[in-house]
Amino acid sequence: MIPMVDLKRQYARLKSRIDKALGEALEQTQFILGPNVGKLEEEVAAYHKLTHAVGCANGTDALLLALRACGIGPGDEVITTPFTFIATAEVAAQIGARAVFVDICPDTFNIDPDKIEAKITPRTKAIVPVHLFGHPADMDAICAIAKKHGLFVIEDCAQAFGATYRGQAVGTFGDTGCFSFFPSKNLGCYGDGGIVITGSEPLAAKVKMLRNHGSAVRYYHSEVGYNSRLDELQAAILRVKLPEIDEANDARRANAAAYCAALAGGDILLPSERPDCRHVYHQFTLRVKNRQTVADALAAAGIASAVYYPVPLHRQDVFVRMYGPQESLPVAEACAAEVLSLPMFPELTPEEIRRITDVIRNVRF
Ligand SMILES: Cc1ncc(COP(=O)(O)O)c(C=O)c1O
Repeated sequence: MIPMVDLKRQYARLKSRIDKALGEALEQTQFILGPNVGKLEEEVAAYHKLTHAVGCANGTDALLLALRACGIGPGDEVITTPFTFIATAEVAAQIGARAVFVDICPDTFNIDPDKIEAKITPRTKAIVPVHLFGHPADMDAICAIAKKHGLFVIEDCAQAFGATYRGQAVGTFGDTGCFSFFPSKNLGCYGDGGIVITGSEPLAAKVKMLRNHGSAVRYYHSEVGYNSRLDELQAAILRVKLPEIDEANDARRANAAAYCAALAGGDILLPSERPDCRHVYHQFTLRVKNRQTVADALAAAGIASAVYYPVPLHRQDVFVRMYGPQESLPVAEACAAEVLSLPMFPELTPEEIRRITDVIRNVRF
């Protein structure tokens, strides 16, 4: 069986270092906001050449805390992509704001900046681009629109730790960058985890306060906050993995190149990388008209595949009920009908890629 992600191989490689880090954290017994959380925050900020990083419980909360820190709340509108995981838009709804969906670019699967301005209203407060599958969104255009209209930019970097746009890491263009450390993410821990990065001292202070019950000074509470701290043991694991993230992303890129070389010239639309972008291939996602045939052939050969995402957010029951019938967003709908993601992780071998691509090339379209 070739799975979508094989965390066992990764753990086998890092076992001695991870076990040691966990052992030390267990001996220290500072389980809530202990030294590993503080050091990881410094290290993630330094990686991004930013002044602040604030750990939190998961990537969803990273987005929630960022929206709250920017003062977004009931009646506000947040512009985002319909082609993403639910969490991106769910957080706006959780705080009484409305997610407004803008169609995507067919080559990158990311929000199409040319379609954003038509959706801006006096209630719009922020743009939330997602660097989907590890490919950076078009940050120059998005930031220019945000600046012109006085909007916050909250980057959803859950799938793109280490991806760069014009040589600069994603998460550093907007007011905040929000990351998930869900185990299968390209930088993942062994449970839930997340982090918010920012160059703004006031925003960092607000996120820190909100993640800890709205409290900057113990037992004094100035806001309704959350219990959303990054776990100390997860931070210890992440500190082992962080120094290897660029290498891990390089391995993903090499695997993507091998997939592309083997699949070129067929009836399949391969993922592309725009000039000046460094895609980190959190997912390797094809577009193919009859994806079920491909998925079935792969399954018969013991190879996993997955559809991220079968239903774009403007077509999800929850948002149709909440917001009423939504206009068609044809590119997102076409992508949702045709995408298929293949196994992708740094330890995937050339032999496995050959097996996978042989199966696909033998499918009769
Ligand atoms: C694009 C995107 N945003 C947000 C999240 C939420 O992250 P988490 O699962 O850590 O809450 C995820 C992943 O799960 C994601 O893929």
